Amino acid sequence: MPNAIVTGSNRGIGLQLCHALKDRGYTVTALCRHAGDALVSPGIDIHAGYDITDGVAIEAFARTVEPGTIDLLINNAGILHGMSLDDLDIESVRQQFEVNALGPLRVTRSLLHALKDGAKIVLLTSRMGSIADNDSGGSYGYRMSKAALNAAGMSLARDLRGRGIAVAILHPGYVRTDMTGQSGLLDVDESVAGLLERIDGLNLANSGSFWHSNGELLPW
Ligand SMILES: NC(=O)c1ccc[n+]([C@@H]2O[C@H](COP(=O)([O-])OP(=O)(O)OC[C@H]3O[C@@H](n4cnc5c(N)ncnc54)[C@H](OP(=O)(O)O)[C@@H]3O)[C@@H](O)[C@H]2O)c1
Repeated sequence: MPNAIVTGSNRGIGLQLCHALKDRGYTVTALCRHAGDALVSPGIDIHAGYDITDGVAIEAFARTVEPGTIDLLINNAGILHGMSLDDLDIESVRQQFEVNALGPLRVTRSLLHALKDGAKIVLLTSRMGSIADNDSGGSYGYRMSKAALNAAGMSLARDLRGRGIAVAILHPGYVRTDMTGQSGLLDVDESVAGLLERIDGLNLANSGSFWHSNGELLPW
C-alpha cells in the first residue's frame, strides 16, 4: 500500500484529498492542528496538534516516521488574509509567509528522510502567487508568500531530482471552501479530482511545473 502525508487535512481541500487518496488505496497520514469528525475513517491515520509553523513539533513528528516509507507528501495547509495597500498589515504579511512559504519548506525538509526515492511532493500554491498573472493588485501577504513558495518549489525540484523525487506546484482552482467563504467556481471534489490527475502525471521530466488543477500550465 502506498503512503501519503497531507497537511491541513481537517477541512477544505486537504480533507477531500485525504478521503480521495484513501479511496485510491493509500494509507494516509493526516497532519492537522485540530482533527474533526469528518476526517475519521479507516485508512486515515490522524495526527492532531501539528502547526506547520512550529518547527520543534514538526521535527518531533518527522522522527516518528520510518525512513524511506512515504510515496507522496502533500503540503496543503495555507492561510489567506485579504489586504489592500491602505490596510497593509506587516505582521499579517509575516504570518502568511510563516504558514504559506516557510511552513511547507519546513515540513518537506523535516520529512526528507521519510520519503522514498522516486516519491512525489506537492505544494498547494495559488495562481495569486503568479507575478505575470497579477492583474488586480492587493493581497500583499498572500501573493508574496505564494510566490515565495513557488520559488521554493523550483529549488526542491532541482535539489531532489537526484533522488528521483518530483515536485508539483499546484493551483487548485477557485474552490468553494472556508478560505473563499464558500464562493468559487469548483467544489472540492472537482478540484481534488484535477489535482490527483496532475499528481498522476507528475514525473521527473515535468518536475517543477506550476499547474492549474485543470492541467493549464501557469505563468510565473
Ligand atoms: N480555496 C481556493 O480557492 C484556493 C485557491 C488557491 C489556493 N488555495 C490553497 O489551497 C490550500 C487549501 O485551501 P482551502 O481552500 O482548503 O483552505 P481552508 O478551507 O481555509 O483550509 C486551510 C487548511 O490549512 C490549515 N492550516 C492553516 N494554518 C495552519 C497552520 N499554521 N498549521 C497547520 N495547518 C494550518 C487549516 O487548519 P485549521 O482548521 O487548524 O485552521 C485547514 O486545514 C491552501 O494552501 C490555499 O492557499 C486555495
